[in-house]
Amino acid sequence: MRKQIAAANWKMNLSYQEGEKLLDDILEAGIQLAPHQYTLFAVPFPYLIMSKSEVANEANFYVAAQNCHHKKSGAYTGEVSAEMLQSIGITYCVLGHSERREYNGETNAMLAEKVNSCLANGITPVFCCGEPLDIREAGTQNTFVAEQLRESLFHLSAEVIQTLIIAYEPIWAIGTGKTASTAQAQEMHHYLRAVIAEKYGTAVADEIPILYGGSVKAANAPELFASPDVDGGLVGGASLSAPEFIAIIRALK
Ligand code: PGA
Repeated sequence: MRKQIAAANWKMNLSYQEGEKLLDDILEAGIQLAPHQYTLFAVPFPYLIMSKSEVANEANFYVAAQNCHHKKSGAYTGEVSAEMLQSIGITYCVLGHSERREYNGETNAMLAEKVNSCLANGITPVFCCGEPLDIREAGTQNTFVAEQLRESLFHLSAEVIQTLIIAYEPIWAIGTGKTASTAQAQEMHHYLRAVIAEKYGTAVADEIPILYGGSVKAANAPELFASPDVDGGLVGGASLSAPEFIAIIRALK
């Protein structure tokens, strides 16, 4: 079965102590993940090492960075490279979150470089895509999101692209409490898988987990995750509450 993943995206929230307590509270639930199920915690840079040691003895629990720089090293004050992440044993990194595209001017071309940089350092990208409200209202979301994949990922070989995780996050549903309907999520995920299949074949497309992001909560996760092409979620707000996130992990197929 394709990997099913509950990914927490803490964004710029929680103190170190609050983060540590949240991880303790979640791990205390003693969730036993099936071999195809994974949980990721995308935490702020200063919490990576602590979080990694918190989950060290938990099967299929991993830690992710929320971003990395596209260059290898150099005069880029305040930035963190994939090589640095690798040197502390980080194996996942969220890339291209809509907030970074919007506030930090990340482009599809720059993201292609970040993807390469992560892969060169043994880090699996959790590649985010998704359309803004005006594109959804104009009905051109499919072309918009397919373009994000083509420009940032389609230079990869079939062997490599099938190791990635994709997160579809309609921007109009992020942090707004407005979730895409299960039908809208399934429709886009199915479409993205078809776009990947067209270039790389069905076997490759079937390997890639596509997570849904945008106001996932304990209450809507079971229905969203039950869709055949929705392989879990990238969760912002609700990942900051232990009971909410525990229920979301438990909703994985
Ligand atoms: P949200 O954020 O769950 O708070 O909508 C999702 C995300 O941005 O990853």
